[in-house]
Amino acid sequence: MAPSHMGLSLTTTSLAFQLNVTVQTLIDVFTVTGIVHYGTAGSSNDSMSFGDVSVPKLVAYTGAWTWKQTQTCSMIACILIVAEIQITKRVSAELRFEEYNIPNGGENLLGSLKFRNEELYSVGKPMEEVKLERCNNTFCLPTTPKVVYGLKGSSADMFLDNAEYRKFLFREFGVSTVDEESAAVVMTTTSPGIPVIVFRGVSDWLEGNQHGRQQA
Ligand SMILES: *[C@@H]1O[C@H](CO)[C@@H](O)[C@H](O)[C@H]1NC(C)=O
Ligand SMILES: *[C@@H]1O[C@H](CO)[C@@H](O)[C@H](O)[C@H]1NC(C)=O
Ligand SMILES: *[C@@H]1O[C@H](CO)[C@@H](O)[C@H](O)[C@H]1NC(C)=O
Repeated sequence: MAPSHMGLSLTTTSLAFQLNVTVQTLIDVFTVTGIVHYGTAGSSNDSMSFGDVSVPKLVAYTGAWTWKQTQTCSMIACILIVAEIQITKRVSAELRFEEYNIPNGGENLLGSLKFRNEELYSVGKPMEEVKLERCNNTFCLPTTPKVVYGLKGSSADMFLDNAEYRKFLFREFGVSTVDEESAAVVMTTTSPGIPVIVFRGVSDWLEGNQHGRQQA
């Protein structure tokens, strides 16, 4: 049984790859002193809306999950797992595909996902107070956009268009914004030690908000 609407797009996976190659080529051919990368992001936090800007404190790379096998444990192993969950409250953030089976119940051979810690990102000096406009000449956002500091973001080489995965990122990691390219840019610039700054403006709900899908 397949999980319902798991939206991974090959087109955007190759977009991250193209960015990787583009940045690498720029670094190889030119003397690059710094990279400014900007674009759009999706909101996984219902309080972050179109036009809002998040200056995150932490960014998770959510594109390199460890795939775990379907849970087939012996009686002893199952008891140990239950005991560990009871002592630590949880083993780690985990996404179990069988919870999304339709109809409900049964095993799902996709197993589950878990994560490990990496460090690629550090917080710079806070920006001066920035005021954002609600309207341009022709268009007004539903509310005046705000700049929010200190939240958590995520980036991965995949396109996120899935309400349950959006909820999972918010619930397990407190992720407020999601984008699909900046990780490729940041990782490519990290090994040669080139400074990079990333701006992403909220432009959609990752297919998971009661207000439906809009673009801003
Ligand atoms: C969601 O966003 C709001 C700002 O719009 C922020 O105050 C709140 O802390 C965020 N939630 C989490 C879990 O980061
Ligand atoms: C105003 O914003 C809308 C929506 O983002 C955009 O399509 C339009 O090009 C903008 N107009 C100007 C003059 O920048
Ligand atoms: C960039 O692409 C190369 C070639 O496929 C790959 O080996 C490398 O891991 C990629 N780097 C990142 C940061 O995605």
